[in-house]
Amino acid sequence: MLREQYREFTGWTIYQIYPRSFKDSNGDGIGDLQGVISKLDYIKELGANAVWLCPCFKSPNDDNGYDVADYCDIMDEFGTMSDMDELIEGLHSRGMKLILDLVPNHTSTDHKWFQESRKGKDNPYSDYYYWFDEIPNDWVSNFGGSAWQYDPVRGQYYLHSFAVSQADLNWDNPAVVKEMQSIVDFWADKGCDGFRIDVIDGISKNFRNGKNDLGPHLHDYIRALFGREKVAHLFTVGEGHTNDIEDIVLHCASERNELSTLFIFDHMECGRADKFTPKDDSLKSLRDYLVYWQTETDKNDLLHSLFIENHDQPQMISRIGNDQELRYESATDIAAMVCLLKGVPFIYQGQEIGMPAAHYDSIDDFDDVECLGYYRKYKKTLSEEECLEKINFGSRDNARHPMAWDGSRNSGFTDENVSPWLLPHSRAAEINVENDLASEKSVYRFYQNMLHLRNSNQALQYGDVAVLSKPEDDFFIYTRSLGDSKWVVICNFETEQNIELPFECEVPVLANLNRQAASGSYAPYECAAAKVK
Ligand code: GLC
Ligand code: CA
Repeated sequence: MLREQYREFTGWTIYQIYPRSFKDSNGDGIGDLQGVISKLDYIKELGANAVWLCPCFKSPNDDNGYDVADYCDIMDEFGTMSDMDELIEGLHSRGMKLILDLVPNHTSTDHKWFQESRKGKDNPYSDYYYWFDEIPNDWVSNFGGSAWQYDPVRGQYYLHSFAVSQADLNWDNPAVVKEMQSIVDFWADKGCDGFRIDVIDGISKNFRNGKNDLGPHLHDYIRALFGREKVAHLFTVGEGHTNDIEDIVLHCASERNELSTLFIFDHMECGRADKFTPKDDSLKSLRDYLVYWQTETDKNDLLHSLFIENHDQPQMISRIGNDQELRYESATDIAAMVCLLKGVPFIYQGQEIGMPAAHYDSIDDFDDVECLGYYRKYKKTLSEEECLEKINFGSRDNARHPMAWDGSRNSGFTDENVSPWLLPHSRAAEINVENDLASEKSVYRFYQNMLHLRNSNQALQYGDVAVLSKPEDDFFIYTRSLGDSKWVVICNFETEQNIELPFECEVPVLANLNRQAASGSYAPYECAAAKVK
């Protein structure tokens, strides 16, 4: 990545949309591209200047679009290619960027490539997937059960790292690499500004027993995709699964010509022992992860991705914050802990109004293929009540319930008389955009002020980070400095604290409660940002 690009991307804030759940424009209960288009001003006013759209390509939707049946066509429920053109135009005319979600590790078994491939060993698509006469290793699917499926048509086993209908592509076949290159080019030609790349570190396999560690050709394949001159200017963020800084450097160092940045998931374990089991963490644990990764990425001159939510994660405020009486305070406090650090902030739909996790009483109310697989597994040893507790805690549906725009029956996501594809959020009547904006304690307005501050001060985008709080402190203080401009961000944790800063500051311009001075007593979850004199 070029230096100037690094600089440009550091000024971005990306708003992530799960199109299925964002806004339905035609009353069929499913969010769509016209729905997204109708909310572009809402996103722009928040202060984001890019949108990452989860997969919107043709798909039978076993994994809501992460099972692609045609990468160069739009999912029927989401609209048409002309809607996509209109969306790109709508973004660009507002000075905003579009990031698409590329899924190169697997296709839907409905994809033409798979349908041809399964026909036998002597067709042009025969080697597009991994076929074996015998199951070659002990791999299990990320969604539970064996990762190998027998296909009676071909009379062989194929690999599916995720659902049975998501067959892993064989990247060792140069024809597959070519296909993916032309898909990237197709979207770049259409004006797409970048990609979020699904499970990027899975595309090269080692086929050893145990975990599929990074395969031997991973870096060659990534470079084949994005290291080419035609597309080297695009923003690329990979979904990685490594917490090893050396691996991350290999993916993201500018001279490597691979990715602009990688999602590092270490801190996303905050508040949970595993996906479905809570753990007694706190804001302190989150701070320690943030500090560690900020330091490591800085030391290695990497562009860092700043995020605490996405479509796969139950909301952070419900894990380590207070999603009841101090919901506003903890949502805004966590926002300041993360979004004023150095890197590219990502905001997931609903995060900007402090949407917490949801709760449902019946397994029938869930859709997420992953949680349903785990439910079946837990049912073997746990009571129904215990199972539901786990599923409610960890289900990806927490983040996938229709966006709550108002307090009406279907939360303003779709018409009141239709059934949305997934139930409205269980707290949508109380927590929604309309209520938030009408409240004195508006999470949206806090985000708006925070992003405005960030966007209008180079020190908060490009400035160096220094951490002033000590590991034993029950708060987080960091500064951002560039030239003679210096800012301080103070985020208190769960208990009241007296905080004396070692320098004089102006009156805080950003605060979640009323504050006249940066030093002094801080209420639980109180935060502020101020210019250092
Ligand atoms: C990624 C996506 C997730 C999807 C999986 C399989 O982890 O974020 O939603 O189910 O890949 O494509
Ligand atoms: Ca629709």
